[in-house]
Amino acid sequence: MTKNKKIYIAGHRGLLGSAVVRELKSKGFDNLITATSDEVDLTNQEQTFSFLEDQKPDLIYLCAAKVGGIRANMLAPGEFLYRNLAIQNNVIEGARKIGVEKLLFVGSSCIYPKEAECPIKEESFMTGPFEPTNEGYALAKASGIRLCQFYRKQYGCNFITALPTNLFGINDQYDPEKSHLLPALIRKAHIAKINKQTEIEIWGSGKPKREFMLSDDCASALVHLMNNYSGEEPINVGTGEDLSVFELAELTCKVIGLEAKIKTDPTKPDGMMRKLLDVSKLKALGWTSKISLESGIEIAYNDFLTKNNGVNLA
Ligand SMILES: NC(=O)c1ccc[n+]([C@@H]2O[C@H](COP(=O)([O-])OP(=O)(O)OC[C@H]3O[C@@H](n4cnc5c(N)ncnc54)[C@H](OP(=O)(O)O)[C@@H]3O)[C@@H](O)[C@H]2O)c1
Repeated sequence: MTKNKKIYIAGHRGLLGSAVVRELKSKGFDNLITATSDEVDLTNQEQTFSFLEDQKPDLIYLCAAKVGGIRANMLAPGEFLYRNLAIQNNVIEGARKIGVEKLLFVGSSCIYPKEAECPIKEESFMTGPFEPTNEGYALAKASGIRLCQFYRKQYGCNFITALPTNLFGINDQYDPEKSHLLPALIRKAHIAKINKQTEIEIWGSGKPKREFMLSDDCASALVHLMNNYSGEEPINVGTGEDLSVFELAELTCKVIGLEAKIKTDPTKPDGMMRKLLDVSKLKALGWTSKISLESGIEIAYNDFLTKNNGVNLA
């Protein structure tokens, strides 16, 4: 793909969007366009269409979305459904109207049915009910996948979808009301370290297994897909490896330098017992994960320390 393509990264200040910007720059793509949500509110159709008509990007990475952990999703399912539908509808339709050469829609592994067999293959999409805790978000993302597929069929648009696993890394969200499991663990272990605690508690039995990917690793896969994939089917993006929540807590404590007993709280819900993506399609397209979980947590923790400047968050 030629390096002078004009590329719009929607959501460039976020966890994944900022990693896509770093990855593109490192690969020599420097004709990048960005806009914050204050400059262009992508839930607003008029603002979105006029921005795209003015800028006329060749390629779009659609990383903008309303994102949150289980708690935020459970508290505001309507907002998650409405805002995500609005953002993706406006950007995808706006891209079609101006004849964008290629668009990559970022979906999520949350679209898979609660009962999907692990490792989860792309074929499991729309084969059963969503996990109820994030149904609003999942429904919006599922609609985005179909919209890209239908626009390909009806209008010939080269719009593709990637489905990342759980992400973490630079520019992550550490607010306990909004954060996901790994950033929440990093914050908890950091606070325990500075308060010299000898014990930390994790939700549930610690037994469920999860997959985690550094946002920079994911961004590398997205740029690879943009350059090498033009199919209708969504593609899973993950590391292909998982570990238990208890093991994750141990690894996080090791990286942070906290020696503490990890206590489980079996009265709290575990959620799905396993959620690992099958990444054989991504591998067959020539991409494999390059960053270990331990190195990723180190990168994320250093970013956390820089942003929080050693302040006691307790
Ligand atoms: N985080 C994960 O674990 C994970 C896993 C799988 C898939 N994904 C997907 O990856 C994508 C990026 O997620 P993320 O974790 O990077 O999210 P994030 O850190 O919360 O960033 C979201 C970005 O979306 C932008 N945005 C939100 N509402 C907007 C609006 N109305 N108008 C314009 N921009 C808006 C924000 O822009 P401003 O900063 O300018 O407000 C922000 O930069 C999402 O599609 C998400 O579903 C994430």
